[in-house]
Order: sequence, then C-alpha cells, then structure tokens
Amino acid sequence: MTERNVAVAASTTLLHRAAIPALVGDNDLVIIDQFAHASLHMATELLGNTYVARIRHSHMQKLELMIQEFAHRHERIWYIADALYSMRGDYAPFRELSVLLDRYQKLHVYLDDAHSTSWYGERGRGAALSHLPNIERVVVALSLNKSLSAAGGAVALSTPELKKRVYACGGTMLFSGPIQPPMLGAAVALGETTSFTRASYSSGRS
Ligand SMILES: Cc1ncc(COP(=O)(O)O)c(C=O)c1O
Repeated sequence: MTERNVAVAASTTLLHRAAIPALVGDNDLVIIDQFAHASLHMATELLGNTYVARIRHSHMQKLELMIQEFAHRHERIWYIADALYSMRGDYAPFRELSVLLDRYQKLHVYLDDAHSTSWYGERGRGAALSHLPNIERVVVALSLNKSLSAAGGAVALSTPELKKRVYACGGTMLFSGPIQPPMLGAAVALGETTSFTRASYSSGRS
C-alpha cells in the first residue's frame, strides 16, 4: 500500500491519541479543521502545552495568513484535517496544501484518510498519499476498518525514527492492547496485495 514506515493500533481513534501527542511538540501550533473527525479533535485535547486553533473548513487562505502571522513564534505549524471528510464527503484541498507545504517549511500536515484507505490510489494507499508530496512533513493516518474490512488504524510516517517514537511515546500504544489476533490476521491477509501490514509487524510492535 505504501513504502512508508507504518505504525498500527487497535483503532484509528487510539492511533490518533498515540501519534498526535508523540509527533507534536510543546512549541508547535496546531490548526485543526472545524469539520475534522471527532477522534482528531479528541486527540488534540491531549496536547497540554500546545496552542490549538480551529479553522474554518478547508479555508486555505486563512491557513496561509495564520502561517504568516504565527510562524516566527512556533517551531512547527501542524494542519490537522480529514483527507476525505466523513460527514461531508469532500476531499481536503490537496493541491493548495501541496503549494503551502512547498512555500512554508514550518508547515506539517496530519491527515486522517480513514475513508479512502484501500479503494483509492495505487495499492489502495488512499487519496492523501496519492496527492500530497512524500515528505517528512506529511503524516497520513489510514483505517484498517471501513472498506479494508479488517480492524485497526495505521499511520504512514517518513522515517523509522518517527515510527519508533509513536510506538515508544504514544500513550495508547503503552496502555491499550494491540489489534486482536483474528482481525490482525484479516488485516495481514487483506494486506497481502499491499506492503504496509507486513512491514508494520516485521519491524514494529510485537
Ligand atoms: C474519518 C474517521 N476517522 C476516525 C474514525 C474512528 O475510527 P475507529 O473506529 O477505528 O476509531 C472514524 C470513524 O468512523 C472516521 O470516520
């Protein structure tokens, strides 16, 4: 599905709750779309010392103005959103986001692509991994539920170090259980036509 480094959790909600606090720093700014999935909003509530701002749906002009206004005060600026919105059925503005990623090196993007995992793009990698640049500043969460029909959540990261950080520092990775074995078996079987499930389990959490 993707050649990226992938960490998995028992659900996408648990995945966000591990990955977002592990990736976002105290000196970062988080800008989250008003219609981002509830599991993303809930995960940002775990960011104790980090400023979190809500932005109007897919408002890229406002996002650019905020980057220009706040970049000097923050190490990184995270835009958190859905890649394919669960309630509205629209896609994130990938083209505009790619332009902003190119223009502003402080911009990082974390997208929840639960809804296009497995049926969209090369080997079912989803819309975000198909349309955004394959760079470290782009993080994409996938779902092993929904149309993949197994269970769990996954996050595609650019380096083994980031994957290690999510497993080592993500709260739910430490106190919540892994994908249940029957559903893990289903995910691995379904992933036989892809690459990401095998990579996750051969070098990740045991
Ligand atoms: C976009 C999106 N993200 C996350 C979730 C939560 O997924 P899970 O049930 O795996 O926690 C959902 C659930 O419907 C969703 O639509």
